[in-house]
Order: sequence, then C-alpha cells, then structure tokens
Amino acid sequence: MSETSFTPRVFSGIQPSGNLHLGNYLGALKRFVDWQAKDMETIYCMVDLHAITVWQDPADLKKSTRELCAGFIAAGIDPEKSILINQSQVPEHAQLAWIFNCVARMGWMQRMTQWKDKAGKNAQNASLGLFAYPALMAADILVYHATHVPVGEDQKQHLELTRDIAIKFNHDYGVNFFPETEPVIEGAATRVMSLRDGTKKMSKSDPSDASRINLIDDADTIAKKIRKAKTDPEALPSEVEGLEARPEARNLVNIYAALADMTVEQVLAEAGGRQFSEFKPMLADLAVAKMSPITTEMARLMENQDEIDKILARGALRAREITAPILRKAYDIVGMVAPVEI
Ligand code: TYM
Repeated sequence: MSETSFTPRVFSGIQPSGNLHLGNYLGALKRFVDWQAKDMETIYCMVDLHAITVWQDPADLKKSTRELCAGFIAAGIDPEKSILINQSQVPEHAQLAWIFNCVARMGWMQRMTQWKDKAGKNAQNASLGLFAYPALMAADILVYHATHVPVGEDQKQHLELTRDIAIKFNHDYGVNFFPETEPVIEGAATRVMSLRDGTKKMSKSDPSDASRINLIDDADTIAKKIRKAKTDPEALPSEVEGLEARPEARNLVNIYAALADMTVEQVLAEAGGRQFSEFKPMLADLAVAKMSPITTEMARLMENQDEIDKILARGALRAREITAPILRKAYDIVGMVAPVEI
C-alpha cells in the first residue's frame, strides 16, 4: 500500500479545558469550517482524555466539553457533515494509544517542548499521562488514518512525532499501515499572540484575562480588550517589512487579516499610515461583528444540553465505524489474538 492510497481525511482536536479563545478560533475552529466545505471527510474531536493529563474539576470538565461542542457548532461545524466526537466516547483512541506507548521512545517524549513547559522543573510530580500525551495525540489521528491535520503553529512538534510513530510502527512490523500525516498550518493567524505581550502566545492558561479574547466575552468586553491591547506609538506601515520587530502591531494586523479573510498585505494596503487610535476601533468592530454571533449561538445551544449529548453520541457511533476496523487490524499486525464467536 503506498501513501497515496490513503483516502484523504481530516482530523483535528481541541482540549475542553475551558476558556476557548480567539487563538483557538482563528488557528483551529475557523480553519475546520474551511476544511468542512471541501469534498473530504472531516472529524473533529473534544479531547477530554488529553485534558485530564493535568487536573480538571469533574463538573467543570463536563461543562467545558459541552461548551466546546456548542462552540464547534456555533462556529459553523455542521454535525451532519462533519463527525463531531468526544474522545472518551470512542475507546479505540485510548486502545491504539497503548500500542503507541510501546512504539514511541522515552527520549522522543522528553524532547517535546510542551512536556518541558508544562512539567517544568517539577517533572517527577507530573502525571504519566502528561508525558505520554503525544502518543495519545498520534492515536487520535492515526486511528482514522487521517491524512490532513489542521492546527495552530504550537502543535507542529506533536505532528512531527505522529509521523515518527507512524514510520516506526510501519518499519517495525514491516507494513505500510499508517499514513504519514500532513500538518496543515496555514493562514494569517497560526500563532495569535497575547494582547498584553506580543512575544507570548495567546493562551487559556495566561493569568491575565485581558491577554485574550474569550469566545464567551460579550461585545463590550471584546471592544475594551482591543482598545487596551498593548501597541507601540508608530503608525501602521504600508509594507509587511515595516512590521518586523513590532510584535504587537504584527499581531493585531494578523488578527484583522484572519477575521476579514484578507492577507496581511491587503490589510496594510487599506490601513497603512493609520494610527492605532484609528485601527483599534476598526479591529474591535470587525471582531465584534464576527465573534458576537458565535457567542450568542453558543449560549443558545448550551440551553439544550440533551441535544449536545445526542450529537456527541451520534458522532461516536459514526466514528467507531471507521476506528473499530482500523484498531482490529492494528491489533492483528501487532500479534494479538482476536476473540472468536462463541
Ligand atoms: P489546544 O486545545 O491547546 O488548542 C486547540 C487548537 O487551537 C490552536 N491554538 C492556537 N492557534 C493560534 N494561536 C494561538 N494562540 C493558539 N492557541 C491554540 C492549537 O494549535 C490547536 O490547533 N494537543 C492539542 C489537541 C489535540 C489534537 C489532537 C490536535 C489532541 N489530539 C489531534 C490535532 C490532532 C491541543 O492541546 O490543542
């Protein structure tokens, strides 16, 4: 089987650990909607098993998972077109992850920057799950034989490891069973930065709420956060080169471009020469126009949680039609005796 014989299939995931923000929207959700519009199977996942690699309050985790599902739908994911799932409802993810725990090497995991950042100096006290996190992520992707994985820039290293795991599995067992997945990191907002510090990634774990725009922020809050965003005293340049060494300016222009579906060049052709006192209200208006309908729809969907739970249950049934045979075959390749009919 050659690599090209894998049916094109898109998979991606988001952690339901609260505070879905503009970085998740522009770097991931909005791209997921674009992929859904193409003629390809798309599978999107709330990765609750990944979320518990660090402590999650059980009630909050349930709420965040449903809220994330509402966020997917409000952003434009149609659960009829795409398969929308909660990771723990599709057990083949965790089952394949165990095999990958036995394929991946300790040294690979130790080199992961996310592990180093999150475990920090207190690695002895981090969970084993946090260390094995990338093997579960590889399983998420490869249990569908997914070929395309749209993500933000921060996931690049994990996707390289997914490839390494696929290559080692194929090599060790002398098969060409898992595809070498392509990371898809594209668009103007693959790395949305903090509104308070243009050198730091916008993140749900930043203690300053003013550093990010949350998907549940109302219009006033969004406008206020953009007004207060850190900038420099210069006007916007009319060429991209003029944004070098101006991380905060670059970030706001990137955000504008991604929200407006424009290139950075197009934004600068329009806004070059303007001061931030003029550009920020333009950006705030655009952000509110694009985000408010999503926020409102999310709140509406959250009023009917039974419907959200049914969507996830239906998604899991559809997903398992794909994952069960792939897992069965992987078990067979590894040498596990399958149960016979009795
Ligand atoms: P997570 O939950 O941290 O983020 C979800 C998605 O949002 C993107 N993202 C950003 N993009 C641009 N700018 C930012 N500031 C920003 N912050 C977050 C992330 O790149 C990601 O695409 N390990 C993954 C979840 C995962 C996964 C998978 C992804 C588990 N299994 C399989 C793809 C395929 C994570 O923690 O994403």
